[in-house]
Amino acid sequence: MAIRRRRRVIVTAGPTREHIDPVRYISNESSGKMGFAIARAAQARGDQVTLIAGPVDLETPPGLLRVDVISARDMQKAVREAFDQADALFMCAAVGDWRPRRRLAGKWRKKDHSEDSASLELVANPDIVAQVARTKGERLVVAFALETTSLSAAASLRRARAKMKRKRTDYIVLNDASALSADRASVTILGRDGSCRRLSRRAKEKIAEVLVDLDGLD
Ligand code: C5P
Repeated sequence: MAIRRRRRVIVTAGPTREHIDPVRYISNESSGKMGFAIARAAQARGDQVTLIAGPVDLETPPGLLRVDVISARDMQKAVREAFDQADALFMCAAVGDWRPRRRLAGKWRKKDHSEDSASLELVANPDIVAQVARTKGERLVVAFALETTSLSAAASLRRARAKMKRKRTDYIVLNDASALSADRASVTILGRDGSCRRLSRRAKEKIAEVLVDLDGLD
């Protein structure tokens, strides 16, 4: 029987939240289920897991370190701190690409606008996985990609491959919007070695087991 080394694994999960004012924010539909399943699977495999979670309504799996964050910049800080000591990163969180340029100290009031419309200026959030993957060395980095448009399967795969190359990750896991909040998903795992593995309508627990067994590509 092969002896596995106890890896130090970071898993990010759930959405991020970008506040407009103290009571309003921009976020997305991510439930965190896939990330939590990966964290559980890694732990069952014997890995030491740090789970960095956006705002989700999920129980912390026993025995792992959970770091709760709100915004993309909070998540960036937590990932960077943990990545130094890590062997693998599963960047499963649905990180918001944009945040309001200013977070208002008080409520954004309708009466402050003279017309029937208002606009919100957004600025780009840092691309967390692209940043850390630049210095990853032999560490395993897995990103995720969600396609919601009616692209052909071939076009989705092309886009995901381009994303993996741009972000310099080892793998990218392509899924579609039907995976959001669901217990099952259909995913395609693309590797920078050209590998391609399709898992159709599988329980997220089963997908997680495959993901935590991925080998590094260096
Ligand atoms: O570019 P896109 O948002 O589709 O990329 C998705 C992948 O990149 C996911 O792994 C997500 O966690 C990560 N990401 C990130 N920082 C961002 C946006 C996405 O790490 N600002």
